[in-house]
Amino acid sequence: MATTKGQVIRCKAVVAWEKEQPLSIEEIEVEAPKAHEVRIKIIATGVCHTDISGWKGILPYTRFPAVLGHEAAGIVESVGTGVTFCKEGDHVMPIFLPQCQKCQVCKSPDKNICDKFMVPPEKVGFMSDGTTRMTCKGKKLHHFLGTSTYSEYTVVDESQVVKINKDAPLDKVCILSCGVSTGYGAPIKIAKEKPGSTCAVFGLGTVGLGAVMGCRAQGAKRIFGIDINNDKKEIAKTLGVTDFINPKELGKPIHEVLIAETNGGCDSTYECIGNPDLIKSALYACKPVGGQSIVVGVPAQGKTVTFDPYNLLYGRVWTGEFYGGFKPKDDLPGLVEDYMKKKIMLDEFITSTMAIEDIGKSIELVLQGKATKIVLYFKPNFVI
Ligand code: APR
Ligand code: ZN
Repeated sequence: MATTKGQVIRCKAVVAWEKEQPLSIEEIEVEAPKAHEVRIKIIATGVCHTDISGWKGILPYTRFPAVLGHEAAGIVESVGTGVTFCKEGDHVMPIFLPQCQKCQVCKSPDKNICDKFMVPPEKVGFMSDGTTRMTCKGKKLHHFLGTSTYSEYTVVDESQVVKINKDAPLDKVCILSCGVSTGYGAPIKIAKEKPGSTCAVFGLGTVGLGAVMGCRAQGAKRIFGIDINNDKKEIAKTLGVTDFINPKELGKPIHEVLIAETNGGCDSTYECIGNPDLIKSALYACKPVGGQSIVVGVPAQGKTVTFDPYNLLYGRVWTGEFYGGFKPKDDLPGLVEDYMKKKIMLDEFITSTMAIEDIGKSIELVLQGKATKIVLYFKPNFVI
């Protein structure tokens, strides 16, 4: 096959021309990677609620027209000058969270929000040199979270690319580059859940179910799973929920029920929806002395939580995280290995696999609560 290195590639992509307008499948042009960038052939990409929030324009980081998508796995097509950690043919995962390996945070052992993630508003949607690598019908397309994986080819900064084991099935492990890991890391890296503990996870989408799996891995004894969709009950139990609660079926607020059920509150609670009322409920539902509540879901921009500060005075810990507290380059390859050794489940999350052309249908299914994780693929005959 003729090399495409150094050339513009014409390929298929999903273009979000304007916020909340129907997404369209287009042929786009993807430029060659510049210095310290990697051009990746995307094999499989997950539909994450954050893509939907980006499309709705409720995140602080979307500039239109854009190519959305940020949860994916693929194969390196070519690299720009200065890239040494990967080469053409390597299997990689693009990731929304950079790990530059140079900043103070990257050098610290226990923090993961790299300085490069703190993009000033005027630079959102562009590569670090202030330009973009994709165009369609003569118009510049913006990048989304530095990844733009709803395209057959994409260009990503080297700090946002992680090399993984070539034997890993890309159509499964792709979901580790956001949703599952974001939930899974919360009890492991942030709360450091202790064996025998009692936890509550609010929202049982991919993120919440990942948190459930993390609580179980840490040895939690009782795991409450809270969701308004009763269809989540079965998968929740498979992943470790011991008590499923549908708040719509209660006569009182969910935190009052959890406090009563646990004789005073949970050791840890995880809000995995991004709903300010539930962020407060999750705080109130953890033990007043030493309980911890972790904000994992991403609320719409500008939303606020009003709460009674007495709830912190006894010593509750209230914090949040991105990407489960994991450092992408250091931790993601190990998560992939854990899946291959069957230490973590992924297949159970994937409710369907569809062609990229079905993006609109897949978003509808997520919004209707009829899907946990949908994986989209680009190959006509899907064999990896
Ligand atoms: N009470 C309880 N459960 C709720 C409520 C509510 N008021 N509202 C929504 N849910 C449940 C939904 O029924 C669904 O099962 O929360 C779950 C959310 O799952 P998904 O929509 O699949 O979202 P997910 O991809 O898991 O992401 C959750 O994390 O990464 C962020 O931006 C993302 O904020 C989003 C959150
Ligand atoms: Zn860094």
